[in-house]
Amino acid sequence: MKLAVSPGRPLMGIVSLPGDKSISHRAALFASLAEGESHIQNFLIAGVTRAMLQALAELEVTWSLQDTTLTIQGQGIMKRDIFSNPVNLYCGNSGTTMRLLAGGIAACGIPAILDGSSGLRRRPMKRIVEPLQAMGVPIQASPGYTAPLQIAARPQGPRLRPINYTLPIASAQVKSCLLLAALGADGPTVLREPGPSRDHTEIMLRSMGVSIIKDQQPTGDPGGIYHQTRISPPASLRLSPLNILIPGDFSSAAFLIVAATITPGSEINLIGVGLNPTRTGLLDALQSMGADIQVRNKRESHGEPLGDLLVRYAPLRGTRISGSLVIRAIDEIPVLAIAAAFARGKTIVSQADELRHKESNRIGDLSRELHQLGIEIEETQDGFIINGGQDLRGGTVTPHGDHRLAMALAVAGLAARDTIVIDGAEIISESFPEFSASLRDLGAAMHIEQ
Ligand code: S3P
Repeated sequence: MKLAVSPGRPLMGIVSLPGDKSISHRAALFASLAEGESHIQNFLIAGVTRAMLQALAELEVTWSLQDTTLTIQGQGIMKRDIFSNPVNLYCGNSGTTMRLLAGGIAACGIPAILDGSSGLRRRPMKRIVEPLQAMGVPIQASPGYTAPLQIAARPQGPRLRPINYTLPIASAQVKSCLLLAALGADGPTVLREPGPSRDHTEIMLRSMGVSIIKDQQPTGDPGGIYHQTRISPPASLRLSPLNILIPGDFSSAAFLIVAATITPGSEINLIGVGLNPTRTGLLDALQSMGADIQVRNKRESHGEPLGDLLVRYAPLRGTRISGSLVIRAIDEIPVLAIAAAFARGKTIVSQADELRHKESNRIGDLSRELHQLGIEIEETQDGFIINGGQDLRGGTVTPHGDHRLAMALAVAGLAARDTIVIDGAEIISESFPEFSASLRDLGAAMHIEQ
């Protein structure tokens, strides 16, 4: 499917965002491990969360959806005996589904084969396989430490080994996988990360009765700190069910925030957006570039902060993004690159090598597509440098099978010199199926060419 986006119309109006992708994944999986019935409102219905729900159905979890309310009958942890043969779990394009499910299954001792699309099969799995093996999980990856992953049945008997482990990179998917596996261990597990990855797992597991302590520890290098998470599995092995309202997805809101910021004359209101500080690095980056964004009606839903955002067009200047800001904006770097392209001066993104391992190579592929649109971009080993402020020409670009690249490139079309066509735009429905409709409602000129 081709999506054509044309410039020249200001964005005006109000949008409520669909539920957060990371929290939706966790809510569905954790509720399945709880004992009793969970109710989850504003659940994200999109390609990646459908993969999670389908996998849970294969694991004989009963769930039902009414509009965006998901009801789940929890099975409890350690119901390993009902599966004698490996369960085939297809995770589609969803790294979160594969990595979090691997941890949950490890805690339960269920034999399984986890596989996914050709894109998912390219993504690195050593980061979960090695620490899971250290915990005693019988897991094997395919050559090159990729999916499919095979988890063998674990006979009844000793629980998993707790670990004291330093993650080589800050990753919420890896941390969450290991925290879930740690629920099946016979003592507290301690994980250290070099940066502040999103903490939705910790917030949700605590609300389900699990003891989790977060603190910071010196690394031994001058000024260096580890973000440490210590989990003690409940002695009863029971998790309480959930009754939650999921905040709107900040990562989806990000596209609308940048869209209004770069499109002259725009003024939009985004309602009920999740504002967990481990996710909102983009706000800090845009504010340092001169963006006009006001946070209003700050509130909380089940431990997760949220609020409304008023975003107006503003001329931007270049900035520097590195360190913990990269981690707090890890999924927003593609759309931040679009803001940088419209900003006066240089934007330098560094220490962001992890972007090469997302749904596409978000350094190489992004640089190629932006170059195609006439943006002066230099790919570096761990990021890129954009010399912004030039006119963006129109043209046809490809998102390389990456939903966030597709949406970022579409946003560029709103303020380019000519129409931008995204060839392969169907991938957007993986995380934000309402993307085009929301922008059209705000006044954008977008249409689908088959
Ligand atoms: C996610 C964590 C991030 C992010 C992904 C969702 C999560 O990945 O890029 O879209 O829900 O935990 P990493 O943890 O691998 O950085």
